[in-house]
Amino acid sequence: ANGSTGEEGGSDFVSKLKNQNKRIAIFYGSQTGTAEEYAVKIAKEAKARFGTSSLVLDPEEYEWEKLDALPKDSVAIFVMATYGEGEPTDNAVGLMEFLKEDSITFSQGERLDNLNYVIFGLGNRTYEHFNQVARDLDKKLLDLGAHRIGERGEGDDDKSMEEDYLSWKDDMFEKLAKEANFEEGGGGEVQDFQVTELSDHKEEAKVYKGELSARALLGTKGIHDAKNPYAAPATTARELFAMDGERSCVHMEFDIEGSGISYQHGDHVAVWANNPESDVDRMLAILGLTEKRNTVISVESLDPTLAKVPFPVPTTYEAVFRHYLDISSHASRQSLGSLSKYAPSEAAAKELEKIGSSRDYFNQKVASRCLKTGEALQLVAGDDPKGDLSKATVWNIPFDRVISSIPRLGPRYYSISSSPKLHPKSIHVTAVVLRYLPKEGQEHIYGLATNYLTQVKAQLNSEHPDKRFNTPKYALEGPRGAYNREGVIRTPIHVRRSNFRLPTSPKIPVIMVGPGTGVAPFRSFVQERVSAAQKSKDKNGPQALADWGQIWLFYTSRRRTEDFLYEEEWPRYAEELGDRFKMVTGFSREQFKSDGKSKKYVQDYILENGQALAEDILQRKAYVYVCGATDMSHDVEKAFVQILAKAKGSEEEGKKEVKTLKERSRFLQDVWS
Ligand code: 2AM
Repeated sequence: ANGSTGEEGGSDFVSKLKNQNKRIAIFYGSQTGTAEEYAVKIAKEAKARFGTSSLVLDPEEYEWEKLDALPKDSVAIFVMATYGEGEPTDNAVGLMEFLKEDSITFSQGERLDNLNYVIFGLGNRTYEHFNQVARDLDKKLLDLGAHRIGERGEGDDDKSMEEDYLSWKDDMFEKLAKEANFEEGGGGEVQDFQVTELSDHKEEAKVYKGELSARALLGTKGIHDAKNPYAAPATTARELFAMDGERSCVHMEFDIEGSGISYQHGDHVAVWANNPESDVDRMLAILGLTEKRNTVISVESLDPTLAKVPFPVPTTYEAVFRHYLDISSHASRQSLGSLSKYAPSEAAAKELEKIGSSRDYFNQKVASRCLKTGEALQLVAGDDPKGDLSKATVWNIPFDRVISSIPRLGPRYYSISSSPKLHPKSIHVTAVVLRYLPKEGQEHIYGLATNYLTQVKAQLNSEHPDKRFNTPKYALEGPRGAYNREGVIRTPIHVRRSNFRLPTSPKIPVIMVGPGTGVAPFRSFVQERVSAAQKSKDKNGPQALADWGQIWLFYTSRRRTEDFLYEEEWPRYAEELGDRFKMVTGFSREQFKSDGKSKKYVQDYILENGQALAEDILQRKAYVYVCGATDMSHDVEKAFVQILAKAKGSEEEGKKEVKTLKERSRFLQDVWS
């Protein structure tokens, strides 16, 4: 195993388990934290059911050789995410490599006949290698003689992770009780946190109100990452659509000068938005905390291995709801169900129990209407969510339960739309403001972060003479409590690296496909090439780009006059890049296929240019990049299969070519659903 040691007790998890009288070791292969969350969920439920604590372990920190030394009455639980094209998460690479070896030596032998295990995988069905890591691991463990308890669970991050988990876990826990002799009914609900009100707390400057790290609060120097985002001021924000507020796309520039943050083309920026004030007020009202909104609280974890305090403390009730808990996503079935015992009436308790225990009923009452936790609780109590909040029914939910049952508010990621070569001191974001109707006749749903950006834009441009800069009519009413200690609106951000990168040599052609906001990273890519072209021409004169490969950009939007993103910029880039730049544009609600009515999309323009594209790919080793919605990316992939099939002579060979391109990282996707 690797040399690093887990905190106290070293890297031997079997001794650690025995010393602490525990019987369950839960390993998580986690990249962004979701698998870790599910590992903790399992640990909590095991404690509630059996009264048994578990070890929750990062596989990177422990000796997997010891898997064969786990006592027979114990169980190893694997919660494994699959990342990218079927790969393990960084912290599980070592474990998976170790198990792949031809002859594996464990601490006592070469078999795992004594091992009982449970496995739950996290994946995304829109990828080809769905849950590959969990499947591989499961197979390997069975081959080595281990005994699996229950079925292998498989969660789909694209659609239904929580439901997949819920429908898997009951059977698993029942079998666990039977096959590994755990006693049901040993536990009861676990209290994770102790909340203390610090009514006489005077040091205002030491209270967290949106900051995500001690370094941010105290202003000490340090690198900026997911654990310590940088509170960036926005310098420029403008509307990119000309649609008079019917739809909106925000262009925003975050100032990173002096922050030490650097980025590259293709990277993502994480935006830590905060919740709308209306949702903050609702939660405070329901919990009877409106008067105490500014009371300073401290929160302590009663069992740090099971639950970390999800935000920095001391903080205030208001800040918890404004900045730290995800109260604007739709409520989860499990958390609503768990609140039934605090219901203000018998009827409300019954209703919550029903919601918690029936997936169909939950879908009908909550999910299909996209109700947030606060709204759902109000409806259950017979309140009108649109009514006067001062008359809302008050629920007696202990605040530690609130923290346990509502997930932490995470950042939203955007493909950066600027190039650091042209814009070293700022990071640009291009985001369509999200608003949709779940069903005819229902309330609108507003995307959290894009509406937050809209608010920041409106505040930044409040005096602007152009009426397009004022808050558009679709945005949520009322200001947000922006994070603005020094009177400057600041948004915590950090950069996430990606492998979505141009080939270093401009001689290699690149084919970029980015309809709608999918064009964001390609504005950055084109700027990269513009910067290189300027330098090269300064040095080598006008002939400098003669041996450059073609730079293709396929772009469509609905209508030229409404939503053509950065329309005025592309000709300027074309001037620098000359005929090396070939931008193919189309407008899907203005231009149609030969039948006169089907919409023409990027994939149709790819087919039209099929021969030239296939030559660039097959003869000049072009790189292909696709960014945008998953549906589109699937159709685009088919178009590439088709043009390569035509060039190579058969459908089979077209498919093979795209597969090879992917394996060689020459067909890269940055997609969202
Ligand atoms: P539409 O809205 O007119 O259907 C950016 O959103 C562009 O992508 C628009 O032109 C949009 O067209 C188009 N689009 C929608 N679905 C698509 C798909 N499956 N494949 C490619 N383009 C699509």
